[in-house]
Amino acid sequence: MSIRPRRVAGIAAVVVIGAALAAYAVAWQPAIAPIEPPARAAFPAADIAGGAELAALGDCAVCHTVPNGPPYAGGRGVPTPFGTVHATNITPDPDTGIGRWSLPAFRRAMRDGVDRAGRNLYPVLPYPHFIHATEADIAAIYAFLMTRRPVQREDRANDLRFPFNARPLLAGWNLLFLRSGEWRPDPVRSPEWNRGAYLVEAIGHCGACHTPHNFLGAEQSGATLAGGEAEGWYAPPLGSAPPASRPWSADQLATYLRTGLEQGHGAAAGPMTAVTRQLATVPEEDVRALAVYIASLMPSPAPFDAANPGAASPGSANPGAAVSSGVHPVIDPEAIFDGACGACHGADAPMTLGGAPSLTLSTAVRAPTARNAVAMILYGLPWREGHTGPYMPAFAGALTDGQIAALADYLRARYTALPPWPDVEAAIQQAKRQGGGT
Ligand code: HEC
Ligand code: HEC
Ligand code: HEC
Repeated sequence: MSIRPRRVAGIAAVVVIGAALAAYAVAWQPAIAPIEPPARAAFPAADIAGGAELAALGDCAVCHTVPNGPPYAGGRGVPTPFGTVHATNITPDPDTGIGRWSLPAFRRAMRDGVDRAGRNLYPVLPYPHFIHATEADIAAIYAFLMTRRPVQREDRANDLRFPFNARPLLAGWNLLFLRSGEWRPDPVRSPEWNRGAYLVEAIGHCGACHTPHNFLGAEQSGATLAGGEAEGWYAPPLGSAPPASRPWSADQLATYLRTGLEQGHGAAAGPMTAVTRQLATVPEEDVRALAVYIASLMPSPAPFDAANPGAASPGSANPGAAVSSGVHPVIDPEAIFDGACGACHGADAPMTLGGAPSLTLSTAVRAPTARNAVAMILYGLPWREGHTGPYMPAFAGALTDGQIAALADYLRARYTALPPWPDVEAAIQQAKRQGGGT
């Protein structure tokens, strides 16, 4: 981000306070009366099952669960440029969760970002996307949540800077940025494409990370899926000019989204890992639909080699550029690579011979920012007990910042023909501040 936070806060304060004063008068919302927590029998089994899948597609558990904590009981802090917002308890506990919320109260939170008591909610809850969800889908998610195990757990207060800590200002934000309307299918497209478009835009809220945001944290209109950020990670463009060196096919996208790894491209890391773990649990047709829709947005780039003339063939060394660049004269990144990375990423490493993607194909190495590559080196891909999936050790404790910077410059020079990254040092500092994101 090139805009300075303090300046942003200043402009933001003026714009938001002005808009909010006007908006609050118009947009004030009353409390919705509490209900007796409904019995499980009140919800059709089909709704509960459908709601489970939609909740996975919407990543509700990702934000509303602390690591190893009770599902949906809240407490996880979501970092934003304005401070940390804590996801709430959405189990049906009558006192600390949403047990006394009626369907209309739940619908208002999902669509308008207003809680049962009438308070505005922060758009970290992706209501600017959920607003496009169908009535039936919202009812199904409600049925699913209201039949979870209630967990008594008080919500944690948010930690936001002034003026962003004033909820009434969000009425102004909604007036400026919230666009309503149920999503409508495009009649000339296939049902599968339409299903994918709906899931991407409404429930899956892919744009919450993959669309660039303006200085007030709203998605930029006209730049849908043009590349954004999430918890310090760079979320590559999905619509226009993805940095991938090979075009994505719908099949490859489906494999990536469902398993978190695609041989021709790479592994999902950072906040995308949690998304793919959720997608691993939903019906195959829905992941397929997401993939078909996303593939239709992507332009077909020029063929791999033509687009990337100077790149080494997978794994073959082209170290001259990096070593002689003079940026890191004392550290020898090639030696570090051979020692720390070569066993897995070297040209004749079993992993590479076994078909794992070469770093030549890595979106992280080809991205316009060094952020994902340095985050990969710092945090790796965590091992998960009892699950197969890609594993890479974390090097945060093993390499110095200078070594990581030299290594990042080396990867860029060795595996791409793209210009050096301008932001390697800053990316390391930022990644260290924000943590691994998984
Ligand atoms: C990116 C993180 C994120 C995702 C994904 C997410 N939420 Fe939330 N949600 C939040 C945060 C943060 C809040 C609290 C906002 C605030 O304090 O204003 C919240 C608040 C809510 C509330 C209001 C509850 C209350 O006690 O006020 C409901 C209901 C809710 N979320 C439901 C859902 C459902 C259902 C899904 C999935 C379909 C979902 N959320 C997905 C982050 C998320
Ligand atoms: C919480 C933020 C977040 C959400 C929500 C999210 N993504 Fe991602 N996504 C990322 C990040 C960060 C990366 C880069 C991670 C990496 O390179 O390992 C990424 C990477 C990807 C990639 C790989 C792109 C490439 O060129 O390598 C695809 C494809 C993708 N996401 C699709 C989706 C789709 C489809 C959705 C919605 C169903 C979605 N994402 C939702 C954050 C997110
Ligand atoms: C134990 C094996 C192992 C070691 C050691 C290892 N990695 Fe990895 N690395 C992986 C796996 C598995 C992946 C995910 C599959 C893929 O993308 O190649 C990965 C992915 C990556 C990616 C992201 C590729 C993408 O998906 O965009 C980068 C960058 C990377 N590694 C750099 C390094 C560097 C630099 C080192 C040495 C400091 C290193 N790795 C050491 C196993 C390893």
